[in-house]
Amino acid sequence: MTESHLTSLSPTAPDLEFPSDFLWGTATASYQIEGAAREGGRTPSIWDTFSHTPGKVQAGDTGDVACDHYHRWAEDLDLIKELGIGAYRFSTSWSRVQPTGRGPALQSGLDFYRRLTDGLLERGITPVVTLYHWDLPQELEDAGGWPERETAERFAEYAGIMAEALGDRVSMWTTLNEPWCSSFLGYGSGVHAPGRTEPLAVLRAAHHLNLAHGLGTQALRAALPAGAKVSITLNPAAVRPLTASAEDADAARRIDALQNRIFTGPLLHGGYPEDLKADTAAITDWSFVLPGDEEIINQPLDSLGINYYNPAIVSHAPAGGSAKDDGHGDSTHSPWVGSGHVAFHQATEERTEMNWSIDPTGLTELLMRFHREAPGLPLYITENGAAFADTVDEDGQVRDPRRVSYLHGHLGAVRDAIGQGAPVRGYFVWSLLDNFEWAYGYSKRFGVVHVDFETLRRTPKSSALWYADLIRRNRPM
Ligand code: NOJ
Repeated sequence: MTESHLTSLSPTAPDLEFPSDFLWGTATASYQIEGAAREGGRTPSIWDTFSHTPGKVQAGDTGDVACDHYHRWAEDLDLIKELGIGAYRFSTSWSRVQPTGRGPALQSGLDFYRRLTDGLLERGITPVVTLYHWDLPQELEDAGGWPERETAERFAEYAGIMAEALGDRVSMWTTLNEPWCSSFLGYGSGVHAPGRTEPLAVLRAAHHLNLAHGLGTQALRAALPAGAKVSITLNPAAVRPLTASAEDADAARRIDALQNRIFTGPLLHGGYPEDLKADTAAITDWSFVLPGDEEIINQPLDSLGINYYNPAIVSHAPAGGSAKDDGHGDSTHSPWVGSGHVAFHQATEERTEMNWSIDPTGLTELLMRFHREAPGLPLYITENGAAFADTVDEDGQVRDPRRVSYLHGHLGAVRDAIGQGAPVRGYFVWSLLDNFEWAYGYSKRFGVVHVDFETLRRTPKSSALWYADLIRRNRPM
């Protein structure tokens, strides 16, 4: 990667200046990249089952091979190092470590993650571990899954195992990734594994994910050395009402309750919001929240992870319509919003390949919101990025100027928030590699590194080189 290579492929970003201790990272998740689905004693997770169920994932794609990262991890870590990226956020596969979700850990699973973290440390890259990025062991789903309290207890056991295994080499830990998706997409709209569509199960799942975070945090803190940091990653909605009407304001309030405050209420403020309970009173009396649960969830956090892609523009809509809602703004209705229904609208004409609006201002808004809501809590953007239909040019290069522009805009939004005082400590581009984009299979490419899914060849896109350049320019001399 020479300087001429960089300048021929990508615009430079001299105007984006960040604090010298800012953590520059990139992120992936186990099921999306690892493959080796049946190796080392790993058993199916809900995503293996779901992706192998006809009609659930586009083109029948599965994570059986994915990016084959399980075998090619060293090559991938070399890439991160060559790009000068300082931190790598990855997730551990629960079913690779504890195949049934219970009992003793599999040595082969622990060894894989030890090799990976050692490989990162040898290359001077900070490992940032996420314990749960949606791949629940199938046996735990067969026992009821996240709607059942026991799943939270099992998660705490798994968290303790991972802390014992990696605590001497990993100091940044994340319990859950985007529990909104695990609960609302997994048990509500059913577009994610396990594909259930049960309104009550959604709310029970959300609570037991929160509880898993709380119990998991206790287990982590009990096993980790002093100074280790524990966090959770949310995908908070940057909600805006479509009009100034009272009805649209109420739609925004309801979505804020269901996507944001259902998690931040207990996590940051010690309890579920009253308006959320009122909105969902027809579904449940929330008696699955046992005395003491909210205290367990409300533990001090060392930081908050925020995943941001686009804002949510909402309006009040008449009852009826479909329940399909991926949380990213197609015009759909959701039955989980209590007294009325909500329509989602696009914020801008400019869209990514996911048909998500491109609007960096939502990211500044969210960062400022958490700065106000949890003063002093360090914030990390644990995911931000865009899918585009990237192709390899005849000269072997992958040029993705739209991703460069997306990243440039969003990093500008981060810098704006820092300028206004928000304690943003790092940024992780999603994703290192093109990978298995859940229900969309391999059809959506989010990587800054292109993956040819026939040959598994990796090619850094111009966005990767642009990002490398930005990091280099911000490195202390
Ligand atoms: C958030 C999820 O955490 C990640 O797994 C997914 O690929 C990206 N969003 C893009 O949809």
